Amino acid sequence: MMEWTDRHCRFFHRLLTRRAHIYTEMITTAAVIHGDRARLLAYDPAEHPVALQLGGSEPMELAHCAKIAADLGYDEVNLNVGCPSDRVQHGRFGACLMAEPRLVGDCVAAMKASVKIAVTVKCRIGVDHQDGEGDLEQFTRVVQTAGVDALIVHARKAWLSGLSPRENREIPPLDYERVYRLKTAHPRLAIVLNGGVTDLAQSTSHLARVDGVMMGRTAYQEPWGLIDVDPFLFGLPARFLSPQAVAQALIPYIERELARGTRLNAITRHVLGLFRGMPGTRAFRRHLATEAIKPRAGIETLRAALALVSANEAALVQSSAA
Ligand SMILES: Cc1cc2nc3c(=O)[nH]c(=O)nc-3n(C[C@H](O)[C@H](O)[C@H](O)COP(=O)(O)O)c2cc1C
Repeated sequence: MMEWTDRHCRFFHRLLTRRAHIYTEMITTAAVIHGDRARLLAYDPAEHPVALQLGGSEPMELAHCAKIAADLGYDEVNLNVGCPSDRVQHGRFGACLMAEPRLVGDCVAAMKASVKIAVTVKCRIGVDHQDGEGDLEQFTRVVQTAGVDALIVHARKAWLSGLSPRENREIPPLDYERVYRLKTAHPRLAIVLNGGVTDLAQSTSHLARVDGVMMGRTAYQEPWGLIDVDPFLFGLPARFLSPQAVAQALIPYIERELARGTRLNAITRHVLGLFRGMPGTRAFRRHLATEAIKPRAGIETLRAALALVSANEAALVQSSAA
């Protein structure tokens, strides 16, 4: 998720679930080809399985970037056909590509021809007035014929003018039935549902109708919820018993990164929601928000923030015992 997630966030989320697929934020083909590639595409081996999401619409450029991703060891490359921002529309990619299924098909076919890793597409159920059942059906048929390995569908349409990207994630209504019907019509295509999923119970009920569920904002804002993914969906024991234990497990990674010159806040900003709904969470967030942004903030700042949560936990235990 652009401006929210990055490699530090992915490393942190991977501590919470071994098996969920993790996606990068969208990175444009221009940035991959002409930008600071080593920095943009860096990831930690612990992040697998990890997908690189690309923004672009030039088949040869996408094929080139897919090859770069595969050579770097990414497990999947995903094409963004869902982002409605103006900047993206001017570049003729993102959600506006829903109106050009044939071009998306060419992009998918070019990427498939250049790599062996999975090539997937993330789209909306429609854009503007091209949001009929037939439009999504035609889009899906074209990308399936081009060889797409999975289609991730954000279950709401996007208005390309008039709504901000944020409004386009909230105002157009969610229509899960459309995604279910798409799966019924394409039983051999892996369909992943996205949009408005806020807990594992909802995921489980969607999974009776589609092949996968993608979680965006809730995973970021309430990361501790991810701890249930392994036991509920993959039959594996949860990796940690408490958010404190996850935070402790992140410390060696943070120390490594601090030694490389990474600022503490670049990592701890992703952890602010870890104790959401628990005693001490406000003090934890406040401490990090004011202290971790300081240029020389070190690991002791995180330890002090964590002590605020433990202190609150201890107080709660004492008061309930009294
Ligand atoms: C800040 C922000 C940035 C986002 N950036 C991307 C992106 O880079 N690529 C993408 O496919 N979707 C992006 N999205 C959309 C989410 O992936 C997701 O489709 C949307 O939020 C709906 O799912 P949710 O209700 O689970 O959050 C972004 C969402 C937010 C809130």
